[in-house]
Amino acid sequence: MSQQDASAKLWGGRFSEATAASVEDFSASVQYDARLYKHDIMGSKAHAKMLAKQGLISEEEYTSMVTGLDEIERDIASGRFEFKPELEDVHMNIEKALTDRIGAAGAKLHTARSRNDQVNLDFRMYLRDEVAELDRLLENGQRAFVRQGRKYLGTIMPGYTHMQRAQPVLLSHHLLAYFEMLKRDRERLQSCLKRINVLPLGSAALAGTGLPVDRDFVAQELGFPEVSANSMDTSGDRDFALELLFCLNLIQMHLSRLAEELVYWSSKEFDFVRIGDRYCTGSSIMPQKKNPDIPELIRGKSGRVTGALVSLLVTVKGLPLTYNRDLQEDKEPVFDALDTVKASLSITAELLDNTEFNVERLQAATYGGFMTATDLADYLVCKNVPFRQAHGIVGKVVAHCQERDIELIDLNLAELKQFSEHLEADVFDVLSVEGSVNSRVSTGGTALVRVTEALEQAEIYLG
Ligand code: ARG
Repeated sequence: MSQQDASAKLWGGRFSEATAASVEDFSASVQYDARLYKHDIMGSKAHAKMLAKQGLISEEEYTSMVTGLDEIERDIASGRFEFKPELEDVHMNIEKALTDRIGAAGAKLHTARSRNDQVNLDFRMYLRDEVAELDRLLENGQRAFVRQGRKYLGTIMPGYTHMQRAQPVLLSHHLLAYFEMLKRDRERLQSCLKRINVLPLGSAALAGTGLPVDRDFVAQELGFPEVSANSMDTSGDRDFALELLFCLNLIQMHLSRLAEELVYWSSKEFDFVRIGDRYCTGSSIMPQKKNPDIPELIRGKSGRVTGALVSLLVTVKGLPLTYNRDLQEDKEPVFDALDTVKASLSITAELLDNTEFNVERLQAATYGGFMTATDLADYLVCKNVPFRQAHGIVGKVVAHCQERDIELIDLNLAELKQFSEHLEADVFDVLSVEGSVNSRVSTGGTALVRVTEALEQAEIYLG
């Protein structure tokens, strides 16, 4: 575009000087918002249809708009379309291309519309498609947890609190904990979708429009169950994007916690898992190394997803109503967070499928750490010893074992009886890790019966 020709801009009428090249560079967003092109065109077609229905444009004008927009969409998809940074964003690039192709009719497309409601519309339509994709990826992840849970059903491992051995649990119970987290992530996204799925178009710049538009018609065309209630709110609102970023943060945080476990579980010290060679990397200097880089990266990437949320929160927090150009800074963090979370979800499922649990090692790790101490206290409770008193007795038993470097299960009945007369021969049932696990039959507990049910429920849920 020539420097002299200020009116070459779609908004150039009131300007007598052309935009500085530095300003064009600084303000352009098309390099990243071009990914909204399909949604921009879909939105424009619905808007044009409404304009024709309302008599604001003719049927011929509508038809030529649709033909032009379809052509542009094909050109963009096949890489034949040249996006120009001096036209700022995806919206103006497409509108300008339309006018160049179909002439006067193209110039009517922006009737009763502002880029403020247009960009909001495109973003919402793009995000609702992304929510559907995220849901698919989350389900895929859940399936991987259930597959491993089914495969290792019956394997016992230490459960931890404070990273100290606490109580024995089933490995499948541990894996299904992540199934539940991803289930809530899916629910949260569906709830967020309700706020995304509101039609902003028709709010125009900020105050609505005096032209006889039919917002309900556009909503129906584009599959929006709702039309936004306040044009000023709509013009400046990015809650929906922030809420999605929060949902993305919880997903990535869940993946990051699993990643952390995979990292230390694969260390020599733990040796609980073997991650397949195809999912590990080596060291450029230490020939013996096999490193868990993939879970480390999943864990590491949670930082940038959190950064995206904080970045947009800070961008929006001081903005007066309504639209301010600051809001253009909404898209990059959201796109980056989406790309990161989708890639992490997909590789996590692959990683899980390519991880083998070391069943013997997990079982062996349940010996040591007095993990059935609570069971012993509960045993005394069943003999009517008040829990606090039982806690004290078992504490003494543990101290005694620790002194002699033995486990609870290594004590004989005579030794046990010195601590409480209530201890009988059947106490050995609760001192075994299997007995301990299988005693935890409370709803949501780790007993084999409960975990088997949970797996069945999960399989029914996944269909
Ligand atoms: N590219 C802009 C954005 O992402 C579109 C809206 C521009 N509106 C305006 N009044 N300058 O926010």
